[in-house]
Amino acid sequence: MLAAFVEVFDPQHPVSALRVADRPDPATPPGWTVIEVKAASINHHDIWSLRGVGLDAGKLPMVLGCDAAGIDANGREVIVHAVVTDPVDSAAPGRPSVLSERHQGTFAQFLAVPAANLVPKPASLSFAEAACLPTAWLTAYNMLFRQASLSPGDTVLVQGASGGLSTALLALGNAAGFRMWATGRSEDKRSHALALGAQSAFEPGQRLPARVDAVMESVGAATWEHSLKALRPEGTVVVAGATSGYMAQTELGRIFANRLKIVGTAMGSLADLRRLVSFCDVKGIKPHVHSVEPLTNAVRAFQTVLDGDVRGKVVLQP
Ligand SMILES: NC(=O)c1ccc[n+]([C@@H]2O[C@H](COP(=O)([O-])OP(=O)(O)OC[C@H]3O[C@@H](n4cnc5c(N)ncnc54)[C@H](OP(=O)(O)O)[C@@H]3O)[C@@H](O)[C@H]2O)c1
Repeated sequence: MLAAFVEVFDPQHPVSALRVADRPDPATPPGWTVIEVKAASINHHDIWSLRGVGLDAGKLPMVLGCDAAGIDANGREVIVHAVVTDPVDSAAPGRPSVLSERHQGTFAQFLAVPAANLVPKPASLSFAEAACLPTAWLTAYNMLFRQASLSPGDTVLVQGASGGLSTALLALGNAAGFRMWATGRSEDKRSHALALGAQSAFEPGQRLPARVDAVMESVGAATWEHSLKALRPEGTVVVAGATSGYMAQTELGRIFANRLKIVGTAMGSLADLRRLVSFCDVKGIKPHVHSVEPLTNAVRAFQTVLDGDVRGKVVLQP
């Protein structure tokens, strides 16, 4: 089958490490099933994998991709929950991983997954839209509705305007009745954030008109100081990533004097993926798809994501 995979990491030029070629069809352990992949979206996670971050060299070659929507063995249209928890054994004692970390990923014609990881795709979402949900959108759902202790009417700052996670946060937060603010690095990206449901959009680091109840942080070093300054006393910053760098200076006095909460998070549960799918269906929310490319164009699609030249999600179709 055709697949996009990594054989050798390249920390400096990650897209150079991406190969698109034939790989063996997936095997199915007991309790697993094979789906025909109709669409799979790119996450920044896949760029980290090409750099060798979060992926063990002993696992190579590895098909990349966490997100997929497709057709299962019974002909049902399904969305794949990307988190796999292996059974307890000496090698992997029940530790969860995301597809493409320990098990082959979604950028392929066929994908093996635990049968329990499949969620029905609603007719209201296309395969391309549905393929945006399992990573960026589920993480956004978790950040807003599980980690931040928010109520409708609260004000939320999203660092970043145009990426997969940022656009998901803006769309979901707007639908839930939060006042959504965003920072974006260009006028065009800030306009796009407003079109997606942000009430206001600011330049990175810009002084805000008021303190916010929560900050959704995935940019990292470039925005960390601003995130802490933006919070009201007892506000919460939810951290899901560090695209611009992992190491940031922190003014500790600000944290204890203002009794700030810093909460880390990763992905979300299968039950919350079901709720997210239902929320999108009920509210008519559709993930913003920047472009849909054939899997054969994966290198170009990855370069677009790496360059930050996106408005929403880039989707691959095998
Ligand atoms: N913990 C988890 O489970 C989880 C889940 C999903 C994603 N993540 C992480 O979250 C991050 C975003 O993922 P993604 O898939 O949404 O990535 P993406 O689509 O590539 O988006 C990148 C975002 O980062 C912003 N950005 C990048 N560099 C920046 C800089 N130097 N200064 C300001 N903003 C910058 C961009 O803002 P502009 O709009 O201004 O360009 C854009 O919104 C990644 O680090 C990813 O690994 C973690």
